[in-house]
Amino acid sequence: MDLKGKVVIVTGASSGIGEATARQFGKQGARVVLAARRLDKLDNLAQEIAALGNGAEALAVQADLSNLEDIKLLVGQTLEKFGRIDVLVNNAGFGRLGWLETLDPVKDIEAQFAVNVLGVVQTTRQVLPVMIGQRSGHIINMCSMAGLVATPTYTIYAASKHAVHGFSEALRREVKPWGIHVSLIYPGGVSTEFGQHAGIQRKTKATTPKFMLLTADEVGQAVTRLVHRPRAMWIIPWLWSVSVWLNRNFNALVDTTTIKGFTIPEREEEMKVL
Ligand SMILES: NC(=O)c1ccc[n+]([C@@H]2O[C@H](COP(=O)([O-])OP(=O)(O)OC[C@H]3O[C@@H](n4cnc5c(N)ncnc54)[C@H](OP(=O)(O)O)[C@@H]3O)[C@@H](O)[C@H]2O)c1
Repeated sequence: MDLKGKVVIVTGASSGIGEATARQFGKQGARVVLAARRLDKLDNLAQEIAALGNGAEALAVQADLSNLEDIKLLVGQTLEKFGRIDVLVNNAGFGRLGWLETLDPVKDIEAQFAVNVLGVVQTTRQVLPVMIGQRSGHIINMCSMAGLVATPTYTIYAASKHAVHGFSEALRREVKPWGIHVSLIYPGGVSTEFGQHAGIQRKTKATTPKFMLLTADEVGQAVTRLVHRPRAMWIIPWLWSVSVWLNRNFNALVDTTTIKGFTIPEREEEMKVL
């Protein structure tokens, strides 16, 4: 797909991966709709894209992706301004990490599902009739390695990304006859604001090794590449595929290594109290 003039909605475009993705689409001459809650950030990016001088246009729409009315307005405003939707990038999301019993039932648990799962489902549900009418379109869902391999303190985040995985796989098989592609992208660690909102407290200092850490731009470029060459799933960097394979084939070994190397050292003090 030549992206010039194509209409692309990017959710979560106010920072990190979404911002970088929207910028990449702008650089390729697309008409980009930027959605998130922080309108000032979206407005700045919209101005930057409009100033590229390559025919790219941008529309900033303030939307809380956990709210169905906001999602309907987002899709409505897109159609009013541009008349069609070629690509939907369901990227908005966040993680609240910690032991399950310490997570807040509403702010951490319900809220993560509301944005990471229902936001993706409802936005897709609103866009789909438009793409079916066009007999074309591409839906790209921002998953995560946590959507394939679940690790301690990621219970809810991993559950939400596993849900995105299942949703996308089923949808891909539903909509292909209409000429609509559905792709999943699974980045490992990416350096963005994600960590600032996640509430991570680590004694072991366990984190993504530097050589495996991606920039938001690298993920943004991967998203635009997916539009040029659609595929069902893309794990980046590819080396993470090894952990997916190990998890699938040697689950007990991964359990033991994770529990000994992470869970016990992290929980040592609590266990002493018990
Ligand atoms: N960073 C990583 O290591 C990593 C790895 C794999 C996958 N991911 C996934 O990549 C996506 C983007 O994350 P990021 O790393 O770029 O983090 P980020 O910099 O914190 O960006 C998150 C984006 O989601 C938006 N968002 C959050 N809640 C929202 C809501 N209720 N309504 C609308 N927008 C909302 C934020 O915008 P506002 O706050 O302005 O609303 C922001 O634009 C997420 O789905 C995340 O799960 C991240």
